[in-house]
Amino acid sequence: MADNRERQVMKLKKTFVFIFILVMGLSIFAFSDQVLQINVNKVGSKISPTLFGIFIEDINHAVTGGLYAEMVKNSSFEYSDPMDGWTVSKYGTGIVVEVASETSISINKVNPNYLIIKIPKNGEWIKIINSGYNGIPLEKNESYDLSLYAKTKNSTSTIYVSLETSNGEVCAEGKINNVGSTWEKYQITLTSSMSSDNGKLIIKIDSVGSIYLNMISLLPSKAFHGMRIDLVNMLEALKPGFVRFPGGCFVNGNTLGNAFNWENSIGPHIDRPTTMDFWGYEQSYGIGLYEYLLLCEHLNAQPVFVINPGMSWQGSNDVQIVPLKDMGKWVQSALNLIEFADGPATSTWGSIRASLGHPKPFDLEYIEVGNENVGQDYYERFELFQKAIKAKYPNVKLIFSAGANYSGSDFDRAWNWAKDHEVDIVDEHIYASPDWFLSNTDRYNTYKINGPEVMVGEYAAQPWNDQNTLEAALAEAAFMTGLEKNSDKVIMASYAPLFNRVDYSQWVPDLIWFNSTQAYGTPSYYVQLLFSLYRGDFILPSSMNDNEYIVDGNNYKHLYYVVSYDSKNKEIIIKIVNPWPNNEKCQIDLNGNISLTGNGQVITLTSNDPVTSNIPFHGRINSINTFENPTHVAPVYESITDISTSLNYTLKAYSLTIFKIETNGL
Ligand code: AHR
Repeated sequence: MADNRERQVMKLKKTFVFIFILVMGLSIFAFSDQVLQINVNKVGSKISPTLFGIFIEDINHAVTGGLYAEMVKNSSFEYSDPMDGWTVSKYGTGIVVEVASETSISINKVNPNYLIIKIPKNGEWIKIINSGYNGIPLEKNESYDLSLYAKTKNSTSTIYVSLETSNGEVCAEGKINNVGSTWEKYQITLTSSMSSDNGKLIIKIDSVGSIYLNMISLLPSKAFHGMRIDLVNMLEALKPGFVRFPGGCFVNGNTLGNAFNWENSIGPHIDRPTTMDFWGYEQSYGIGLYEYLLLCEHLNAQPVFVINPGMSWQGSNDVQIVPLKDMGKWVQSALNLIEFADGPATSTWGSIRASLGHPKPFDLEYIEVGNENVGQDYYERFELFQKAIKAKYPNVKLIFSAGANYSGSDFDRAWNWAKDHEVDIVDEHIYASPDWFLSNTDRYNTYKINGPEVMVGEYAAQPWNDQNTLEAALAEAAFMTGLEKNSDKVIMASYAPLFNRVDYSQWVPDLIWFNSTQAYGTPSYYVQLLFSLYRGDFILPSSMNDNEYIVDGNNYKHLYYVVSYDSKNKEIIIKIVNPWPNNEKCQIDLNGNISLTGNGQVITLTSNDPVTSNIPFHGRINSINTFENPTHVAPVYESITDISTSLNYTLKAYSLTIFKIETNGL
């Protein structure tokens, strides 16, 4: 009997425990509120004004056929196939059209090639046609500046120029008369009467004699110093703190022969050579050092020029290294570059800058010596630059490469060397999976405040399908909360690569995708934009309860967050990333003495697309932007009122949410 009762009591107890566990379990799922506690009376670390910047490199035709608005492909007939980009149509027998490079005729040694056309008889004609990069895009009522160098022999020629659709409809036409017998630059502006995505430039000659042509250029009149205005506008919207340029491996070169050489990149375009670049296509230095500096000035961003340290790309078996005894001219070139950018208009190189139209010095405070270089050869050469630059320009900060990997023996050795040699800033590059970024948001917590500062000069989350998915963007956002929290140590960070011309793509993911007429920001672009725009000048300390999230036995954070204060606008800025598939209720508590206006704004970046896979980090949220739907994933802005010091908000699944809370001052 007693046994029976005991058994029943035990059974009841078990049932009770079971129900208790069930209820508790359910309540954990149903009410798993996260509480973000913010201390508004404690000033945390300062946020570097240069924290979020951009990195421009000519990869994916980012610059050639991209940012550089030149519409003519192979303007100077210097490509390895000198007629690449050009087709010929002619009427008559005996017409000669060929590329030559006779020294007595060439304009200069840098661009020795020229096109020679000979027409033997009256009534004959020839057209040379350039369709640019998969068609020249023309816009109705827009103007285009055509220029070319020409000279004639045995005749006075007229050059007819026209812009036409691919079907031969004329959009604009003009002519250059009285071409003389010595090389001259001729210019004409053409206004297009219609739009065409796929137009062409036609140059027609119909007079007897010989004519020589070179450096045939067509630029939209609205271009910004030769740069495509829609792409410049997209960069401007990011309000970057700095611009790292011009590479990347582009700076290293496959050999020292095609490493970027800034001295070749200034002055008239006819004096700039065409080179087969590291990324396997020909570029003409159309955007050179001076244009990059003008862009930085326009963007109000610090220029960060990357200079070759006398070594070609170290990934090659045939790496070329300038002997130490011959490094003098390389180091002098870096000093000249600084003088070109920063020197008074009376200095040797400053006067060249002034002659180009910019007597006022640019504000070049950073030089990176090397890109992804490692090892003793690099260290020895870096030291030469460091000694010379610091002696002449003590305020210029030097950036040192940590190599291509973000961990491992080369990386550790680089950091140790940097610490022992008073390096100002170390550049780390991180290309990794979204999973890695989510798992490494605290990477910089352990970095020392008194060591060299950090630049994360290249980083991107690369998802399974190499697309710019929302999933990847959110992983980057989570990582960026860690960058911002540690911005007293990490002073610069830039996503890479910046641009992808889709019809010449060679590396994905990228921040901005474009073709000849359109450009759009990826979800990663909007993450960069939001972090850049909504950022205070110092951190407000914050913490979150129970912030663990376990997926497949791996530990992540439930929510990733950073809080800062913008003294100028008197706003508290809270960024929270929820990279998981559930909406999350979050309570935000502002602790301390604070007076709020009650007003604010919530900005959300997310998508309502269905989850495509249950496997974490393998395409669970594949949302992307496209040319058809360029803002499928884009920020949504909402005003909020009646904000008190405790705010409850449901964070959407797969979202970045930013709260801007107005105060009456801290
Ligand atoms: O961003 C593309 C390339 O990645 C860069 O040229 C190089 O620095 C890195 O390896």
